[in-house]
Amino acid sequence: MTGENLVSAYVSDAERDAEASVRPKRLDEFIAQHRVRDQLDLLLKGAMRRGSPPDHILLSGPPGLGKTTLANIVAAELGSGIRVTSGPAIERSGDLAAILTSLAEGDVLFIDEIHRIARPAEELLYSAMEDFRVDVVVGKGPGATAIPLDVEPFTLVGATTRSGLLTGPMRDRFGFVAHLDFYTPAELEVLLRRSARILGVPITDEGAAEVAGRSRGTPRIANRLLRRVRDFAEVRADGVVTLETSRAALTVYDVDALGLDRLDRAVLTALVDSFRGGPVGLSTLAVAVGEQPDTVEEVCEPFLVRAGLLARTPRGRVATEAAWHHLGRTPPNGTFGTDTPSAPDLFSAQADQP
Ligand SMILES: Nc1ncnc2c1ncn2[C@@H]1O[C@H](COP(=O)(O)OP(=O)(O)OP(=O)(O)O)[C@@H](O)[C@H]1O
Ligand SMILES: [Mg+2]
Repeated sequence: MTGENLVSAYVSDAERDAEASVRPKRLDEFIAQHRVRDQLDLLLKGAMRRGSPPDHILLSGPPGLGKTTLANIVAAELGSGIRVTSGPAIERSGDLAAILTSLAEGDVLFIDEIHRIARPAEELLYSAMEDFRVDVVVGKGPGATAIPLDVEPFTLVGATTRSGLLTGPMRDRFGFVAHLDFYTPAELEVLLRRSARILGVPITDEGAAEVAGRSRGTPRIANRLLRRVRDFAEVRADGVVTLETSRAALTVYDVDALGLDRLDRAVLTALVDSFRGGPVGLSTLAVAVGEQPDTVEEVCEPFLVRAGLLARTPRGRVATEAAWHHLGRTPPNGTFGTDTPSAPDLFSAQADQP
């Protein structure tokens, strides 16, 4: 893949600063996810009343939905310090022991990508989470001794995009597990209006709705598209993000009405035009669009499947009826019988809005 992928849910290093400026700092600024917010609010307030750190918190969900943001909010609401590390960064259990024993009372320890933590470190974490102590082994062989060290009471906040990869014992040690879901277009509209206010970008309701509808249910993508549309509005128009400027800008950036980019559309177009909607094998499809099978499978397909445009079947990839219509094509007669369940419409929430 070349260039910046505008609709990727992953963050690039260069983008982190831009993200920080619009990142909500407190729970009441965090848009949507009402259930999680409500539960967290109770958990944190309850702990503060008792004057003890809250239960350990696990945040799970796809990239770009607000896990890192919530981890920082937890610390801010508690008024405590936060230490940040990640599963892959903890190579040896000694690294983790050093972090744990340096925590101050009530600190939040945020471990991102916690499913990728090495097993010995994970075992050390168990005793720290449960009993606030760690056994540091000194020496080797028969002469090795375990020195128990105290850890100040702390709250672990773990984040994972792959909660299925967490071990059972690890998961069991979290008193609170929150799963973040994709946002509806209406929620992303609210989020975009907030971000625009912070960035000082004038935006109309229609402009916010247009960008929201193309953001794949993901705050990170919504904020990114807003920055691109702002550029367009400032350079080619009067600086206001309207329906027209958003449409024109996102056409320039090749992000269509459903949030598909050039490659997503190429995959669907090949499937429909060259293979009559499939089924076709992944590698054949990849050759048709000039990409590696891995790229098609990991970069394009998850969203195409979620959007109800593509189905993976045992015989190969198939375009759904919605895919034909999205490309402005008419499916051949009889392809989709009336009893065929229609594809789930990811964006139906938009239709429900007044
Ligand atoms: N509920 C929300 N309200 C407002 N902004 C949000 C919300 N959720 C996420 N964001 C914004 O989206 C961006 C991405 O969020 P964040 O970094 O927390 O995602 P993440 O779940 O940690 O992603 P990753 O899995 O890649 O680490 C941030 O800039 C943040 O400001
Ligand atoms: Mg994160």
